[in-house]
Amino acid sequence: MKVTVLLIICSCMSWGGLGKPQFPEQEKDPRFWNAWAQRTLENALKLQQLNQNTAKNLILFLGDGMGIPTVTAARILKGQLLGHSGEETQLEMDKFPFVALSKTYNTDAQVADSAGTATAYLCGVKANEGTVGVSAAAIRSQCNTTKGNEVTSILRWAKEAGKSVGIVTTTRVTHATPSAAYAHCVDRDWYSDGEMPAEAVRAGCKDIARQLFENIPDIDVIMGGGRKYMFPRNQSDVEYLGDKFFGGRKDGRNLVEEWTNQKKNKKASYVWNRKELMSLNLQNVDYILGLFEPMDLSYELERDPKKDPSLTEMVEVAIKVLGKNPNGFYLLVEGGRIDHGHHEGKAKQALHEAVEMDRAIGRAGQLTNIDDTLTVVTADHSHMFNFGGYTPRGNSIFGMAPMSSDIDQKPFTAILYGNGPGFKLVNGVRENISTVNYRDNNYQAQSAVPLSGETHGGEDVAVFSKGPMAHLLHGVHEQNYIPHVMAYAACIGQNRDHCASSGGPSGFSPALATLSALLTLVRLFC
Ligand SMILES: *[C@@H]1O[C@H](CO)[C@@H](O)[C@H](O)[C@H]1NC(C)=O
Ligand SMILES: *[C@@H]1O[C@H](CO)[C@@H](O)[C@H](O)[C@H]1NC(C)=O
Ligand SMILES: *[C@@H]1O[C@H](CO)[C@@H](O)[C@H](O)[C@H]1NC(C)=O
Ligand SMILES: [Zn+2]
Repeated sequence: MKVTVLLIICSCMSWGGLGKPQFPEQEKDPRFWNAWAQRTLENALKLQQLNQNTAKNLILFLGDGMGIPTVTAARILKGQLLGHSGEETQLEMDKFPFVALSKTYNTDAQVADSAGTATAYLCGVKANEGTVGVSAAAIRSQCNTTKGNEVTSILRWAKEAGKSVGIVTTTRVTHATPSAAYAHCVDRDWYSDGEMPAEAVRAGCKDIARQLFENIPDIDVIMGGGRKYMFPRNQSDVEYLGDKFFGGRKDGRNLVEEWTNQKKNKKASYVWNRKELMSLNLQNVDYILGLFEPMDLSYELERDPKKDPSLTEMVEVAIKVLGKNPNGFYLLVEGGRIDHGHHEGKAKQALHEAVEMDRAIGRAGQLTNIDDTLTVVTADHSHMFNFGGYTPRGNSIFGMAPMSSDIDQKPFTAILYGNGPGFKLVNGVRENISTVNYRDNNYQAQSAVPLSGETHGGEDVAVFSKGPMAHLLHGVHEQNYIPHVMAYAACIGQNRDHCASSGGPSGFSPALATLSALLTLVRLFC
């Protein structure tokens, strides 16, 4: 309590008067900027001593559609939610010492989709849009081009090396991003056999939900949405009994029941709501299947905490379960609905999703150690989202630019989309937004071109990294380079020439490994 009050007083005192723009008084003093820059310089010099440890654990945070404008806007939002001006705030990902750029194009697309890109940053090869876990020799939606073109993911390489592996997402667990970690499918939309053309089923192609359980049968942690694709068609959903949600499988299989039966003699738990998840005794759980919605989870801004866990909560549970393996783990975390907010032109939803993923990154950092954990944060692709308009310092990120257009004399918001559903004419001219609530959660920012769904953007995205070998992500890279670095750092997959014999890390010491495992347990459970 006392601390909070003090903080509020301090931040009030350090702020300028009522005149705009407002910024902390200390920023008028060159010593403030010089001291900050010198501290940054000291830290940069320390990075000359590279962390060349072997990564026991690997974590990839994937912000779906989290382009650089989204990162900057999320940073400002995070600061403003704390009552600050916002621009000077540091996101958790901003604190990572190494940053690179990732070229996101798909083999057949200049502006990428989430399926081809997931194949790149999970399987290490670029692929065609719409396809997951298959090379560019496979053609979208053509079942007969699957066979022989499968490529495996770093999640599988980690599992084969004896690590625990997990998938956590705010979308369906069968969605494009997670599916490339376990499935080989020429069509990202083949969630269950109910979404597949009959001839593809007849030709032997398997739906993505089935592949989640059949390809790598012991994925230790699976959390997200997507119940619909696991249950027989017409079986009503456990949470929405008699409502509009029903299972979607034509083959009548109940994949959750099959999973539960198969894991009968193991410490395995299926949960479908937050209460069940949070009441698990994690020391007594080795496998978790958490499916919290029939399809995607709700936006964080609209989440009912009585029903669904937050991304941060899921990540915390995942790390506590996976972290028990003395060989370490690979965890894929997707902030999957940043993308959905943008497609709908709802910047506020998208940015709150990004802030929540950043919170999860911070929590993961507390539960792990940079000495033995390589953490990478990146996006699959960007969006046609941007903000500008010479806004003053501390302007609400959802606010207006300080001037009106000199062409149509109307005001405009700082956030705008290049295309999307926010395009709106009133009586044949651009809408005057001073009469609309542009701070609403679901306000659709204006766009230059009308489209029912806003599109992805084609520019590079950032790659933030910390931990062993993080410095290998250092320049402008092809997106498929990412899992090559992660595998190299962990001595898994094909590239192990730099590792000590028998796959163990160089300088591997069983005593040290035991000590490290003990310390991890202390960190996780104390
Ligand atoms: C593969 O299937 C497509 C139709 O989806 C067909 O046009 C093509 O001839 C088939 N290719 C082979 C090699 O069977
Ligand atoms: C599901 O319900 C629809 C509509 O009531 C019906 O036509 C269909 O045969 C049912 N499918 C199954 C697999 O029971
Ligand atoms: C826009 O709406 C505001 C508030 O109703 C009004 O004051 C202003 O004149 C309008 N601007 C134009 C160009 O219509
Ligand atoms: Zn998208």
